[in-house]
Amino acid sequence: MGKTTRPRKTRRTDGSQPPTSNPEGGRQMVNLCVNIDHVATIRNARGETEPDPLHAAVVCELAGAHGITFHLREDRRHIRDEDALALRRIVKGLLNMEMADTPEMVKIAQRVRPDQVTLVPEKREELTTEGGLDVAAHKDSLTKTTRKLRRAGIAVSMFIDPEEEQVIASRACGATHIELHTGQYARHYDRERELAFHELDRLEAAALLAHGQGLVVNAGHGLNYRNTAHVARLPFLNELNTGHAIIGRAVFSGLDLAVRDMIAAIREAEQVLEHEE
Ligand code: PXP
Repeated sequence: MGKTTRPRKTRRTDGSQPPTSNPEGGRQMVNLCVNIDHVATIRNARGETEPDPLHAAVVCELAGAHGITFHLREDRRHIRDEDALALRRIVKGLLNMEMADTPEMVKIAQRVRPDQVTLVPEKREELTTEGGLDVAAHKDSLTKTTRKLRRAGIAVSMFIDPEEEQVIASRACGATHIELHTGQYARHYDRERELAFHELDRLEAAALLAHGQGLVVNAGHGLNYRNTAHVARLPFLNELNTGHAIIGRAVFSGLDLAVRDMIAAIREAEQVLEHEE
């Protein structure tokens, strides 16, 4: 295990103000959207009806989550079509649907009408989403899909690695949001702290660039109760999407407390930043 304190960035020692989330100065609070896929994973392990991801969504929202995220995978390994439709009826905050860019998924999204779609790459054999979407390489299809979704009143986010080319391409496709893939940062965090901080620098640069392009900046993947604080302090961050760590902790503490603890970790990180500013 390495240091837990991130070295101060040299470019912030010149007296300039660190970037904030709005022109008036104060930072906007970072929202937490809870990914409830793995409640469905447990349900499906027995082929029965419990635990119900809908119950999970209600508990998460009552515990203070800003929204609910689910991934409707091509193989329906966890969330199913009927879950997606039912979630739309009961979720009161933001409903964020993660999906691959396929004609089938676009049709389902048009029917479900989540508030936001996050387009992700998908491979059948992967355990979870592995890398970011190569937006630059699939610009034509992603532009068409984005147009269809936005016409249905759905905000569109691209799940991308923190690379300039991908940020620019996301903007060019008409996306309203990006979600920065924090998986690489999270993988390094407990083993090679320096590498994690290097990845954090890349995330920060991508967040600044995206904000400058008029994109709303979200982040997620692999975040847990130890590594979330640094990500919560990214400039112009709007929302974090976290699933596995929260559902994993809920096994021991209950879902309500697991969500509250994650929100507390985010708020604590924000307070440290306010102190530094
Ligand atoms: N963001 C995206 C785009 C994802 O695909 C996932 C996993 O479904 C997450 C966030 C949440 O990742 P984790 O379960 O590791 O918190």
